[in-house]
Amino acid sequence: MSSVTPISQSQPLFTKTQLRKPPGTPIMVFPNPNPAAKSSSVGGPSATKAKMNTAVVVKATAAATAAKKRYPGEAKGFVEEMRFVAMKLHTRDQAKEGEKEAEGPPMAKWEPSVDGYLRFLVDSKLVFETLEGIVERPAFPEYAEFRNTGLERSESLAKDLEWFKEQGHTIPEPSSPGVTYANYLQELSEKDPQAFICHFYNIYFAHTAGGRMIGKKVAEKILNKKELEFYKWNGELSPLLQNVRDKLNRVAEVVLLLLLLITLNVLMSFCVHLCCPSFWFLTKTLCFHQSWTREEKNHCLEETEKSFKFSGDILRLILS
Ligand code: HEM
Repeated sequence: MSSVTPISQSQPLFTKTQLRKPPGTPIMVFPNPNPAAKSSSVGGPSATKAKMNTAVVVKATAAATAAKKRYPGEAKGFVEEMRFVAMKLHTRDQAKEGEKEAEGPPMAKWEPSVDGYLRFLVDSKLVFETLEGIVERPAFPEYAEFRNTGLERSESLAKDLEWFKEQGHTIPEPSSPGVTYANYLQELSEKDPQAFICHFYNIYFAHTAGGRMIGKKVAEKILNKKELEFYKWNGELSPLLQNVRDKLNRVAEVVLLLLLLITLNVLMSFCVHLCCPSFWFLTKTLCFHQSWTREEKNHCLEETEKSFKFSGDILRLILS
């Protein structure tokens, strides 16, 4: 079971959530660090100015390099950043990149019960139904991208529960861990898209990784190796996952289209001596919808721990 202690303090990537920069704020401003030095240097004011410009550029480059280093996985795209944070939150016996100490018994020593596993499946179904409902009726347009990805699980879970019923088992009502998480997701999806996307990623991707390992282990122990629908996907899983990774990266990153529009705007202003307000408006709208600021990305990454906590509570039902 994953632990919920905070991520290493040596990682300065979790800053407090900030509001988006107001429109029109310059991207980088380098104020003169020491105005008094301007006229007193050898070589006169222009040489001083040149030196200072070089210093500012060197500083800015160093700062940019440092910023790059601060976000592991950044070069490969935002999903890689989310993955990096998630992997560290595993315990060492769960995944080799895990950094947490194990709290309960390792999975190999789990003693699951059918009743506990049913509680886990019922609560998981509620969580997946909630996610699928959220993207079906999106509070933010970005969510609509994640309809019909092929990763949806609620229908397959419904089939599995039907199978258990046919075997004579009573299907329980959803319990507190599932209800709490489903309510949290619903609320988050309406007010905090970056945090919501973090849960979306972790829930679907955890299930295809550790979730499948768990399903196999439990099936060996209590289901005579029966493979549930929950662990089957239509077609190859890997392209489905890659498709969702690409969409997640597109939601979080500035897209080429945006750069193209900005270039076109500049060309129009210079060559045609015409500034089309609606064109600028379109660019700004795209900018708003398609890219997250560093603060928003960090806010999303920060939410990973909560995702592990909520999902961990549901996983623990298997042993209840
Ligand atoms: C007993 C519990 C768990 C086990 C045994 C487990 C195990 C694993 C393993 C073996 C991987 C693959 C590592 C790799 O690619 O080399 C993985 C990936 C991952 N896990 Fe877990 N995990 C568990 C719980 C969780 C939980 C609670 C979450 C979050 C809700 C989570 C989120 C993820 C994510 C996001 C990945 C990356 C998947 C990818 O890159 O495709 N895991 N896990």
